[in-house]
Amino acid sequence: MTFETLLVDVATDGVAVVTVNRPDKLNALDRRTLDELDTCFSALAEDTRVRGVILTGAGEKSFVAGADISQFTRLDARTATAFARHGQSVFDRIERLGKPVIAAVNGFALGGGCELALACHLRVASENARFGQPEVGLGLLPGYGGTQRLPRIVGRGIALELILTGSHIPASRAYEIGLVNRVVAADRLMDETRSLLQSILKQAPIAVELSIDAVMNADLPLEQGLAVEALAFGQAFATEDLREGVTAFLERRKPVFRGC
Ligand code: COA
Repeated sequence: MTFETLLVDVATDGVAVVTVNRPDKLNALDRRTLDELDTCFSALAEDTRVRGVILTGAGEKSFVAGADISQFTRLDARTATAFARHGQSVFDRIERLGKPVIAAVNGFALGGGCELALACHLRVASENARFGQPEVGLGLLPGYGGTQRLPRIVGRGIALELILTGSHIPASRAYEIGLVNRVVAADRLMDETRSLLQSILKQAPIAVELSIDAVMNADLPLEQGLAVEALAFGQAFATEDLREGVTAFLERRKPVFRGC
């Protein structure tokens, strides 16, 4: 896969690293970058070699510093809604990849960059990462899912504080509020993220996918969410990996999962 604004590397262990690569613009998301993310994640979904994805930004300063602000001068009320819808659909594609996606946040994750990290299933931050939804300072609001995913992850009170003040928070505060799963030294970011992903990739792949789907439904009314969980539980019992996992436990050996 070759892109102008993304670097994609698929290693032999099935881990794909996608790097947003516009470091001179702090990896801000312009239309081309969003479109390339869309194409890239469609291809990663289809690629059977790929078992999980790490998403990061090029350079040491920024993960993604938001949507490209220079585009906003061209938008009006109608086109801005379509603009938000487009970004939302790309981020949905990431969230629904069917394989675990971890954001390795290596600096600024602001606006659309914070929202991009929120669309990933897990987030690992380097000590120098900074998070925020500064849109109100520009006269707008988060439009790539921030008003919906942020409160689901950190709760409404803290989400509103971040969105209404537009303030940036350091990685340590992001960890305190549950916005990120881990904070690590900058030079350990990729290794620690890879090791977290590997600990997921050791598990039964269909069970992992079903778990992600079920948890993504955790905002449904409880009764409906429990119905989704029971259905997924049933689907797991239709897999060979379930039989392998249980048999291996009973035989006191390590399971060998085949993803079927
Ligand atoms: N959109 C477009 N360009 C952006 C950008 C964005 N969201 N964020 C940074 N850039 C560009 C800058 O315009 C600058 O480009 P230039 O060198 O061609 O002038 C380059 O990236 C470097 O940014 P700069 O502002 O000089 O770096 P800094 O270290 O002084 O500040 C930030 C870093 C992240 C604090 C600052 O760039 C910023 O506030 N960016 C916007 C963040 C934001 O509001 N995001 C939400 C958008 S909805």
